[in-house]
Amino acid sequence: MKALVLAGGSGTRLRPFSYSMPKQLIPIANTPVLVHVLRGVRDLGVTEAGVVVGDRGPEIEAVLGDGSRFGLRITYIPQDAPRGLAHAVSVARGFLGDDDFVMYLGDNMLPDGITGIAEQFAAHRPAAQVVVHKVPDPRSFGVAELGPDGEVLALAEKPAHPRSDMALIGVYFFTPAIHEAVRAIGPSARGELEITDAIQWLVSSGADVRAGQYDGYWKDTGEVEGVLECNSRLLDRLGRRVGGHVDDASVLVGRVVVEAGARVLRSLVQGPAIIGAGTVVEDSHVGPYTSIGRNCVVAGSRLESSMALDGAKVTGVLGLRDSLIGRAALVGTTGAGADHHCLVVGDHTRVEVAA
Ligand code: TTP
Repeated sequence: MKALVLAGGSGTRLRPFSYSMPKQLIPIANTPVLVHVLRGVRDLGVTEAGVVVGDRGPEIEAVLGDGSRFGLRITYIPQDAPRGLAHAVSVARGFLGDDDFVMYLGDNMLPDGITGIAEQFAAHRPAAQVVVHKVPDPRSFGVAELGPDGEVLALAEKPAHPRSDMALIGVYFFTPAIHEAVRAIGPSARGELEITDAIQWLVSSGADVRAGQYDGYWKDTGEVEGVLECNSRLLDRLGRRVGGHVDDASVLVGRVVVEAGARVLRSLVQGPAIIGAGTVVEDSHVGPYTSIGRNCVVAGSRLESSMALDGAKVTGVLGLRDSLIGRAALVGTTGAGADHHCLVVGDHTRVEVAA
């Protein structure tokens, strides 16, 4: 089985971060989402992965390389524009050949693994096997209506009145039967070739389409809230590892990672938390549920349930919570006695100050 990892797309929901980086490289517990994805793919025993990329391809390639450090051989497959998930399958036709493949959305996190569902697919080899997850409100998802043995009876995209609470999430298993379906469908109302339409085409033509239920933790990291929540959940799984320097005046509580080359001075770090290499934390209180990237400065500040990406600087700010601070961004205070806020806010940014 091969893997097809989708890392194109426009990432509008993750602005402003997606202006300066492909959203699939946003770090979760200081590791890019795509790296988590490729580890998940490798855990299925796959060795050949195609990565579909758009105009941000070079940045993705710079991070993933040829895949050998994940035990994979990566082929990069350019997609000229985000024309839909089924379009991504069609541009990868040459790479996929007549092999079965797992298609994995490059912004989806399924940290509990899908080996069980992959085994079901390999054992029964239906034309397609979708992965479903029970969600409280399925109206914003593709929804699968299932028969008693997990067979897919019908799919509905964002139904107003869902007939089940089983949402399709970002992993699909396909036999080469999908290629005929992709050729048969036309663009949807939003102008994309939809993978749900291709799968529905298979169902309607009588092919065996099944669903495997994923009960673990799942998150689409395509929006800021999803990134923060997923980061917290992954930090919860960290162990304690202190490779950097922690001075005698600092206290680390619980599961804290201090990467080699980081320095923690006169500070309290409350786990789960991670402090990236080359970062200095001084006179601060960091955590719980906080990631500080690499080469950051956190001074005289208090942050919890937050993320600061590489090169960010947070100085003199008490009470940051549920915040996502971009690369090389500065969050600081104005001079003593100032009676105003001073903001340099980029496009599609969100700033909330206490009333
Ligand atoms: P989406 O999150 O559905 O689409 P998007 O990236 O355009 O995001 P937004 O809605 O915020 O504008 O895409 C899911 C994954 O599939 C993501 O990793 C991007 C990738 N993708 C492609 O590779 N090609 C495509 O044509 C599309 C639509 C998505």
